[in-house]
Amino acid sequence: MAISKKKLSIVGAGAVGTAAAQWAVSRNAADEIVLVDVIEGVPQGKALDLSQAAPLCGFTGKITGTNDYSDTKDSDVVIITAGLARKPGMSRDDLLAKNVEIIKDVTENICRNSPQAVIVVVTNPIDAMVYTVFKVSGFPKNRVVGMAGVLDSARYRTFLAQAIGVAPKDVTALVMGIHGDNMLPLTRLASVAGVPIEDLLSKEEIHRIVKRTQQGGGEIVKYLKTGSAFSTPGLAAMEMAQSILEDQKRILPCAAYLEGEFGISGVFLGVPVILGRRGVEKVLEFPLTDDEKKAIALSVEAVKKQVAATGL
Ligand code: LAC
Repeated sequence: MAISKKKLSIVGAGAVGTAAAQWAVSRNAADEIVLVDVIEGVPQGKALDLSQAAPLCGFTGKITGTNDYSDTKDSDVVIITAGLARKPGMSRDDLLAKNVEIIKDVTENICRNSPQAVIVVVTNPIDAMVYTVFKVSGFPKNRVVGMAGVLDSARYRTFLAQAIGVAPKDVTALVMGIHGDNMLPLTRLASVAGVPIEDLLSKEEIHRIVKRTQQGGGEIVKYLKTGSAFSTPGLAAMEMAQSILEDQKRILPCAAYLEGEFGISGVFLGVPVILGRRGVEKVLEFPLTDDEKKAIALSVEAVKKQVAATGL
């Protein structure tokens, strides 16, 4: 069966949006890629730069930059990375309020031009922004999904692989819950080619890796000082977009709208889902232990606070 590659739009030509576009080009992941930003010249320049990678990486599609949403018309997938990053003196709530306004406007523009798209939300705080997109778009829950679990799980897998001394690719591990300090890297289900990590690492080592994963974003901000991670966040968003564009049906941890799964309703939360042409095709539910349930409850509480602050 031929793989259908389609139209992908990326909103926000900042560091994460640009990284997503770069991964999309290098993976030849769409026939048409549109990079949109409000700043004149930036998406155009970045897209032109990336278009010139084609002879070197084998990209066969078309990539353009624009300030006009009509160029995104009939996108199959739209990745939203637009939004402000926290500046000195700005509280998380200030940031949240500003980004809610930006995301509302972006969502209206996307809906007008691509009413059938699946939207992948990357803007922080992700769990509240994905809720904002869901409410403003009126899209069915399967067509709005948040990125975070893929990034957090990739960090967890990297740290585990380094500690055990194996290929990162062979480490399977899942991070559930909020994209924040209360996220839940599951230890019980982490394995190296099927061998449980609990048989390969001490409790103390696992605990240290879990903590490091939970603070993985902050560790990078501390080095960069004025910015946050962008390469792997961009790739994580692309991994999701590609599974949707190519109907791969990958199982990826994503922020999905829950209606009773894991006993949770009315919020977006990181859970394993099947991602295919229709977006979130299914939430993979499994029994949690009492400790895991307690940890997830903390995530739900934190997400509910964020959502309340959106005023939606
Ligand atoms: C991080 C930011 C992107 O976790 O949320 O690095």
